[in-house]
Amino acid sequence: AIDVSRLRADTGVITLDDGFVNTGSTRSAITFLDGEKGILRYRGYPIEELAKSCDFVEVAYLLIFGDLPSKDEIETFRSGIREHTMIHEDMRSFYNGFPRDAHPMAILSSVVGALSTFYQDSMDLNDPRQVEISMYRLIAKLPTIAAYSYKKSMGQPFMYPKNELDYCENFLYMMFATPTSDYLVDPDFAEALNLLFIVHADHEQNCSTSTVRMVGSSNANLFASISAGIGALWGPLHGGANEACVNMLEQIAADGGNVQKYVDMAKDKTNDFRIMGFGHRVYKNSDPRATIIRASCDKLLAKLNLDDPLFEVAQKLEEVALKDEYFIERKLYPNVDFYSGVIYRALGIPIQMFTVLFAIGRLPGWLAHWREMHSNPASRINRPRQIYTGATKRDVVPVDQR
Ligand code: ACO
Repeated sequence: AIDVSRLRADTGVITLDDGFVNTGSTRSAITFLDGEKGILRYRGYPIEELAKSCDFVEVAYLLIFGDLPSKDEIETFRSGIREHTMIHEDMRSFYNGFPRDAHPMAILSSVVGALSTFYQDSMDLNDPRQVEISMYRLIAKLPTIAAYSYKKSMGQPFMYPKNELDYCENFLYMMFATPTSDYLVDPDFAEALNLLFIVHADHEQNCSTSTVRMVGSSNANLFASISAGIGALWGPLHGGANEACVNMLEQIAADGGNVQKYVDMAKDKTNDFRIMGFGHRVYKNSDPRATIIRASCDKLLAKLNLDDPLFEVAQKLEEVALKDEYFIERKLYPNVDFYSGVIYRALGIPIQMFTVLFAIGRLPGWLAHWREMHSNPASRINRPRQIYTGATKRDVVPVDQR
């Protein structure tokens, strides 16, 4: 790699790299990824070990602060989060204005953006304490904001957070409890959610994280930067693929489970159809997150004695695609989004909420990158160049002569 970090002046040379396939945008000490070998590590720890031994809040701490927390550190972190789980009462009235069928990702990005109107006291980027409070606010409030968007779509009253529950349990409680029927959180559900949040927590310079860094590089506040990241995540080529994948699996199941037809359609370049949840910009052998999620899916469905036809369709589709020359040549494998939706279904999460759950999981990664960027004295506003391909100089002809 050519290190151009010291070339501060305009050299007159522009590197064109559509889609930033080979362009490093920064140095980062947060996540290591080897796409050929299928390795993913957060701060040096293999994802498999973190998924086995940690809870999501510990992993959030690790990503943001760089080390696994001591007992005291994690307790302080957890209580800092608990302090901020409620959202301002005036903010609840926002939800009245959204149409009932609004996509929850649209609600999530709007309400997170609006946090900057309610919490103006934590937006000074030069004050580390204020930045820390903004981080606590985001980690604590995102599940509440997300659960309220679901309650809104159901026409049910919002449930306040219950702070004696842990992070994942609290989210499930706010989603599924009602004032007339309490909801006892199934520990298997909380465990599955915890694992999904961990494997989604960071993935170096992916589209939404790069967006958070891009927006943050202008010194925009943290709430605005995260709101932009949520917008980027929503797209079906990125986090929105989990929702698109389950829609696709449902379509295949309704079509008699004929996976070959869909594999053939994905290969046919006369249409735009792709196997959702397949392929990755960086992983070219396997996505370690998909392996973890598939095993967890197997375990959860067996434990719940659930026979989800979509899991069978997904397994059949994977089997057929992985033997197909087209997928082999292009190194297309199941990614993080291929099996996650089957787990969400088993937990009773509606399809439109899938990408919202991805956002809750990815938040610590966004925060870690935003913080890393701002702690680097050499960081500058992100401002790519272009190769201009438009018209050469033209004279303006007044409108009555055109
Ligand atoms: N189904 C069929 N063909 C595919 C698929 C797929 N899922 N993914 C890639 N291809 C093909 C492309 O058509 C292209 O073929 P060609 O060389 O004949 O033109 C080749 O594989 C390379 O694909 P690109 O789009 O150039 O690869 P890129 O790295 O830009 O895109 C991406 C990666 C967006 C993930 C892509 O594989 C895709 O669209 N997958 C489906 C959506 C998805 O699952 N997104 C989630 C990714 S993980 C995440 O963001 C959390």
